[in-house]
Amino acid sequence: MLQTPSTLDDVQRLYDWFEQMRQTQPVWRDESSGCWHVFRYDDVRTVATDYSTFSSERRRPGRFARRAEGTQNGQVRMGRSLLTMDPPEHRQYRNLVSYAFTPRAIDRLRGRVTEITQQLLGEAREPGKMDFATEIAYPLPTIVIAELLGVPSSDRPLFKRWADALLSAQLNDAEFSRPEDEQRDHPEMRRLSQTFEEMSDYFWQMLEERKRTPGEDMMSDLLKAEIDGEHLSMEDTISFCTILLLAGHVTTTNLLGQAIRCFDEHPKALEQLRRQPELMPSAIEEVLRYASPVWRLSRTTKEAVTIAGVTIPKDEMVFAWLASANRDPAQFPEPERFIPTRTPNRHVAFGHGVHFCIGAPLSRMEAAVALPIILTQLPHLRVAYEESPQLFEGRVLFGFKRLPITFEGEGQQPVH
Ligand code: HEM
Repeated sequence: MLQTPSTLDDVQRLYDWFEQMRQTQPVWRDESSGCWHVFRYDDVRTVATDYSTFSSERRRPGRFARRAEGTQNGQVRMGRSLLTMDPPEHRQYRNLVSYAFTPRAIDRLRGRVTEITQQLLGEAREPGKMDFATEIAYPLPTIVIAELLGVPSSDRPLFKRWADALLSAQLNDAEFSRPEDEQRDHPEMRRLSQTFEEMSDYFWQMLEERKRTPGEDMMSDLLKAEIDGEHLSMEDTISFCTILLLAGHVTTTNLLGQAIRCFDEHPKALEQLRRQPELMPSAIEEVLRYASPVWRLSRTTKEAVTIAGVTIPKDEMVFAWLASANRDPAQFPEPERFIPTRTPNRHVAFGHGVHFCIGAPLSRMEAAVALPIILTQLPHLRVAYEESPQLFEGRVLFGFKRLPITFEGEGQQPVH
């Protein structure tokens, strides 16, 4: 059973399937797509970490047409992104932005995250109920990443349209293992290319503005950055910005939404968190484990490799299921239980190894700051299942596009 889950019942079925696969076929070739799937904790970590065997470089959907001078044939190729690079190149690129995610840099953003949370709660349209996904969980991380990058956060509707288009792509795994030329003929791939093209145009314009008037933001820093004495190409800079914008918002949206769902399903845990807010960071780690916002990673084998007695040939696509690894009983006692005080909790929700999520400290901080404020200001918060919460489509992210909630009071209290 490998279907894209569209309801919470589907999600449960997917988790049941993971359990079965961990026990019976921990390394499995899906005959319909030709792709490989890995389910156990140790194997998932190996796939995520061993870049000499499992490469992150892969085909990308299409080229990015641009009317630009100074580019070959008036075309700009999609630049490289951190996510699709291997070491040693990966390290040089990662160093360019890692300064923005140091504990000190993240700590400086705490006040701003508090303000944004208060502001969003204050703007809640109706007393006693709201769509938590669109009113809080989506705008909060989007405003933060937009401010970090230096793009106007009022362009949120645009970012949302792009994220929705990318996340709802109806592609089955087989599409990814096809040659790039054939991929381009697929209507969904063409739609994806179009979305990337729009994003590319947007960032091109923004970066041109920053060239004229540099600001105190990541776009301006990337324009100044050098690798081996050379500036980044425009397409690499655009690609960098695109990936930061995309990876920087919907993932955290999912974490916030899943936290609300987990707390709703575990009222005792919620009570404990209201009494002991200092437990929140550990509860957030458990949300990441129990309801991992990113379902799986993908890699391509650089050589034949044997895992759990099964040999995967060279040049094959491998999916490493983070969500399954995070429920592996070999690593987590009672993995099906949500235990907010779980220690140790070495989940792989942020990946592992050189590609470990660069934004992890930022999203952890956003959740740790925002959730206690939300729980205090929205007493008796409940998920309104009767109003049909909606999940994001697609096979990469697990989170809510719509999460209706009810609570007591106005959702508006003075800023402290
Ligand atoms: C709960 C929130 C988040 C989750 C669950 C998450 C998950 C992940 C995962 C699993 C990876 C590893 C990908 C791989 O190995 O192929 C990753 C990488 C990455 N994430 Fe996140 N992420 C989150 C938030 C963020 C934020 C807030 C940002 C940016 C501000 C961000 C930016 C990135 C980038 C740039 C990479 C690539 C790192 C590299 O390849 O070196 N992520 N993330």
